[in-house]
Amino acid sequence: KMDAFINELMGKMTVEEKIGQLNLVTGGEATTGSVVSSNVENNIKAGKIGGIFSMSSPEKIRKAQELAIKHSRLKIPIIFGMDVIHGYKTVFPIPLGLAATWDMPLIQQTARVAAVEAAADGINWTFSPMVDISRDARWGRISEGSGEDTYLSSRIAREMVIGYQGDDLGKYNTLMACVKHFALYGAAEAGRDYHTTDMSLHRMYNEYLPPYKAALDAGAMSVMTSFNDINGVPATANKWLLTDLLRKDWKFDGLVVTDYTAVNELIEHGLGDLQQVSALSLKAGVDMDMVGEGFLTTLKKSMDEGKVSLTEIDRACRYVLEAKYRLGLFEDPFRYCNEDRAKKEIGKAEHLRLAREAAGKSFVLLKNEGQVLPLKKQGTVAVIGPLANTGANMPGTWSVSADLQKTLSLVDGMKAALGNKVKIVSHLGANLTSDAKLQERSTMFGRTIPRDERPAETVIQEALEVSKGADVIVAALGESSEMSGESSSRTDLNIPDSQRKLLEALLKTGKPVVLVLFAGRPLTLTWEDEHVPAILNVWFGGTETGKAVADVLFGDVNPSGKLPATFPRNVGQLPIYYSQKNTGRPLGEGQWFQKFRSNYLDVANDPLYPFGYGLSYSKFDYGKLQLDKDKFAKGEEIRVSVELSNSGNFDGEEVVQLYVRDMVGSVTRPIKELKNFQKVFLKKGEKKKIEFVITEEDLRFYNQSLEFVSEPGAFKVFVGGNVRDVQEADFELMER
Ligand code: IFM
Repeated sequence: KMDAFINELMGKMTVEEKIGQLNLVTGGEATTGSVVSSNVENNIKAGKIGGIFSMSSPEKIRKAQELAIKHSRLKIPIIFGMDVIHGYKTVFPIPLGLAATWDMPLIQQTARVAAVEAAADGINWTFSPMVDISRDARWGRISEGSGEDTYLSSRIAREMVIGYQGDDLGKYNTLMACVKHFALYGAAEAGRDYHTTDMSLHRMYNEYLPPYKAALDAGAMSVMTSFNDINGVPATANKWLLTDLLRKDWKFDGLVVTDYTAVNELIEHGLGDLQQVSALSLKAGVDMDMVGEGFLTTLKKSMDEGKVSLTEIDRACRYVLEAKYRLGLFEDPFRYCNEDRAKKEIGKAEHLRLAREAAGKSFVLLKNEGQVLPLKKQGTVAVIGPLANTGANMPGTWSVSADLQKTLSLVDGMKAALGNKVKIVSHLGANLTSDAKLQERSTMFGRTIPRDERPAETVIQEALEVSKGADVIVAALGESSEMSGESSSRTDLNIPDSQRKLLEALLKTGKPVVLVLFAGRPLTLTWEDEHVPAILNVWFGGTETGKAVADVLFGDVNPSGKLPATFPRNVGQLPIYYSQKNTGRPLGEGQWFQKFRSNYLDVANDPLYPFGYGLSYSKFDYGKLQLDKDKFAKGEEIRVSVELSNSGNFDGEEVVQLYVRDMVGSVTRPIKELKNFQKVFLKKGEKKKIEFVITEEDLRFYNQSLEFVSEPGAFKVFVGGNVRDVQEADFELMER
């Protein structure tokens, strides 16, 4: 039915109208490049626009859609996109924070709610999930993905797609997902955004590509190309990537869109002029050109000159029209605009409850010496620091639809959650950074943080005065939300000096100090780990951050977040990730330096906080690791089990993680790879047998010929609450 409809429609279209469908312009609400679309109304009427993004509100979208439906010759509806990344108006934690929940049903629900809200507002396409693996915390966009691990990211990619798309893309409350940034964007050299990527096929297939594939296997109907080049060919003009791999090997039959002006940027990459790069990009497999209008302005000429074919233009046009058809836009172009639904659905209590739950579950307790936490609901708490009184920073990066004026600050959120039980006093304490220019760059897009230009000592002194009567100090420190995200790479991952000085002064008071750490990436916390008794990493928790922080600090919620990315000791350890190779000269067990071994002179190899790490107010004990057999063959399985007991004083959740190591292979294999996990709730005093199944399929990898195979031989399995603290056992995969 779809084919017949589109064949008939395309039969009526001129080449210019077909090229018009490939043109995606911005509605202007979130622009991330120097180009902003102009002449939008006239271009819609002339059939020169296929899609608009960054336009929200049913009124505006309805108006634009009406122009297409009433005034363009063929009345082809427009597709409306938006960066709905971690929620729409109800904002959930940044994706790295969501990943820290390791809670798959919850993650799916957040995407579902985002879709319900955005679709009520007229949007039908989201540029999410972002599944770029990143192992270099200097890269600001590590905040927008699920961290360093292939398996965890793949699982999350799937949940997000299902959450957005539901089981029927044509339904009024779904969004078409767009998996991005294809590909390898998170492997930018030196963590500098948009930088070169160069990677072996072996690493690409085994470690970086699987999350994109997982999103497509879950049904994601669109893909966004990345800005970077890959082994010398920019992704947006990379035929191997977009056609050979994506279309031919992976059989993807959805829409391929570029990132913002990525076609035009091929000129800067050194691939030619606008006409040439537009042709290259179309031929490589791009269907829709975001903002740059290279397709719109040059493809007809290229066709006339024989540089691109009508078949190539038809292919791209068909994918755009198919997306619109699947979304039901031909049936009802206004399906997604519903002012009543928008009023009813957006920000409703149920969504806010989910946001609060997700935020609480995303927080990672990094340290809790002497059980400083949870706090008692009594007395006075001083909340001190630049992140204490800024609502605008709570939603975190890439939350373009958040209502910043309405988002409660940490202090106001805590007050709302705690009522009169606890007295809260607060103070700025220190500037975000002593460098005013850096603060300006780090607080863009209305994410302001007040500055106090008096001498730092005066401001600290005032904060100490305010804290005098307090029983405990909560230091609200770390990054502003725009210190991570796009174009926000950093080379220094310490808490800025101005804030460190404040923290030192707060510690000197002798009062218990809890560091509530805001961060869009793993920071280097070596000093803090040594000196601060309690550290709760809260990322950016979204709309309900303040309340959720109160829930966790005061013990209504027991923290259960686990790190989805390794926290280094210093920047020099980057890139750092747990699934590294053994090398020919590994360090001896328990050593941190041996001459002529793979290590550093000045810092240990191991990180400050390992992947999968996070504390609870309770205590989880692992019984002895058991395997039901120690040998198995293809078609069989091994059952791995362990008894988990909650031996502490709080009900709580633990993420039980299973890793595997392939001891001998035709290629070098990682020292540990996450293969499964379970998030388990246990009441205090409760025990439970946790069981995992390992099959031959779990042991497969891409070999030198890029065949996805397992190799018989010796393996190890590891189970524990993080990648470091595990028990291990041996098993063998037998030749049949
Ligand atoms: O979706 C984003 C992408 O992640 C970065 N560049 C702009 C796009 C559209 O806003």
